Amino acid sequence: MAYLTILLQEYKINKIARDWFTDTFFRCYTACGLERKSFLLGKQAILVMNINKKEKAMRVVIQDDYSKMCKWAADYIAEKIKAHQAGPEAERPFVLGLPTGSSPIGVYKELIAKNKSGELSFSNVVTFNMDEYLGLPHEHDQSYWYFMHDNFFDHLVDMKPENINILNGMTDDPEGECARYEEKIASYGGIDLFMGGIGVDGHLAFNEPFTSLTSRTGLRDLTTDTRIVNSRFFGNDPDAVPAQALSVGIGTVTDSKEVLVLISGHNKARAMAAVVEGGVSQKWTCSALQMHNGAIIACDEEACGELTVDTYKYFLDIERDQRL
Ligand code: GLP
Repeated sequence: MAYLTILLQEYKINKIARDWFTDTFFRCYTACGLERKSFLLGKQAILVMNINKKEKAMRVVIQDDYSKMCKWAADYIAEKIKAHQAGPEAERPFVLGLPTGSSPIGVYKELIAKNKSGELSFSNVVTFNMDEYLGLPHEHDQSYWYFMHDNFFDHLVDMKPENINILNGMTDDPEGECARYEEKIASYGGIDLFMGGIGVDGHLAFNEPFTSLTSRTGLRDLTTDTRIVNSRFFGNDPDAVPAQALSVGIGTVTDSKEVLVLISGHNKARAMAAVVEGGVSQKWTCSALQMHNGAIIACDEEACGELTVDTYKYFLDIERDQRL
């Protein structure tokens, strides 16, 4: 890899010129999606830019149906974990972000089967869940803590409980709880792969429309629409759905090395079109993935109902080898 290194000597360039120079370079290279890092070495400001970093476009992997989408996503996640465990960083845990909802259930089943058969180990995997309702205790059957244990963690043969991280919805200090969560993610060096699902309004985690695309983990108010949609799990009573939740931010998700979002069913088709074909917009918070350098949408045919024919054909063509 070739690096371009610029040394701005403290004594030869005055501060205004140095700041302008550094800032301009940062803006240009960030806009181009290239990696950049700056640090101070003694009195030298050093800017290192990787000018050869390969850019990756957002992938859209279209599968025939829900079960094939889940199988593809589980195979992808398993390959990433196995490659990490066989690589030079094997000592460091693989850090996996996880969602709730009906979309990932099939993926969890596939991952459990791989784990039980001995194909995939979770012994050195650390997980961070996306979100949790505020005010629901662990034992509440609609808490995301309960969902994750019931649908996933309790079935894995070698998942360590101390490696499971889920926001505490019963905290009386939401701000502190969210700050602690961000710090813990950072302590592992960030998330390797964040799997997510989206709401019908394109929300990612509980980042409802018009949440900042740079948001971090925090307290969120749920929209009436989301409470109505999620009321199917609360006896069809939207008022029974908690009005607030703790959620990772869009910035928390997009800081991950890779993001894999599942989109299934015709009720997600509008959101899918907005996310894939629309502009980057806080109205559809999932659209922030367009700015990510390692984002994948795994979807089924039904979710493609609102895509234009040429977009649909483009992704079928470019992903025709079904590679992981
Ligand atoms: C909830 C969760 C989201 C999830 C969404 C979609 O709102 N907070 O993280 O992606 O539901 O759920 P489903 O997959 O059931 O459509």
